[in-house]
Amino acid sequence: MHALITGAASGIGAAVARRLHQDGARLTLVDRDAAALAPIAAELGARAAAFDVTDEAAWAELERDLEVVDRVVANAGIAANGSIAETSFEDWRHVLAVNLDGVFLTLRAGMRSLRKGGRGGAMVVVASAAGIKAERGIGAYAASKAGAIQLAKVAAKEGASEGIRVNAILPGGVETPIWRAVKVFNDLVKEKGGEAEAFQAIGKMATPLGRYAKPEEIAGMIAFLLSDAAATITGAALVADGGYTI
Ligand code: NAI
Repeated sequence: MHALITGAASGIGAAVARRLHQDGARLTLVDRDAAALAPIAAELGARAAAFDVTDEAAWAELERDLEVVDRVVANAGIAANGSIAETSFEDWRHVLAVNLDGVFLTLRAGMRSLRKGGRGGAMVVVASAAGIKAERGIGAYAASKAGAIQLAKVAAKEGASEGIRVNAILPGGVETPIWRAVKVFNDLVKEKGGEAEAFQAIGKMATPLGRYAKPEEIAGMIAFLLSDAAATITGAALVADGGYTI
């Protein structure tokens, strides 16, 4: 197995990289944060490709000398908040660029590589419960994730006859550094005295199960979707949100 993972320097992406490494996969890890990516790549004996997933030329360069991969995880993404009335067009476009253009470029490179291999394979798009449930103040993020879910479904149809499966996973809350960009979370960290306490409080508030997921738990579900145990699952949008969207 050779897996390409974007956003692999932190959070869910790093957890997926470690999990697939444990499962014996060779890895190509992409992240725009070169300094954070280098130690993880070294730890896992992986190839590090430090570039921004919105950079089409960088993808072309990677594709030129990328050995064929058979697993792809389109995970890189950013959080954003702000009501529609208060969001600048520039901010809107930036979120859509990373969370949707970035997924398109990842799936395109992945689809080409998987086809070249000729033996099928699997891709997972890390979307979000925000792609199916509206909340105030998440317009750009929610729209980007809804788009990513539908793109995964189209890719599933396009890849099916060649044995290429594509699924989306929709986490609710996961305990990762992405939350540092979210105002309510930062307010909670101040109020509760630390990130662990803030995650505990927000998980209790937001989910019937009373907690957010750990990145390793989401990584396990992604590993399942990429594995032969999920051989008949394609075009699914797997909700993993502690019941938040019920
Ligand atoms: P994180 O912030 O810990 O990791 C994201 C990684 O993506 C970072 O290493 C960052 O450098 C990289 N990245 C961001 N923009 C990039 C770009 N333009 N090009 C290349 N790399 C880029 O965040 P986390 O939580 O691990 O997020 C991973 C995915 O999971 C994201 O798509 C996010 O929207 C999604 N997600 C996260 C949830 C959460 O509660 N943490 C909930 C639902 C979805």
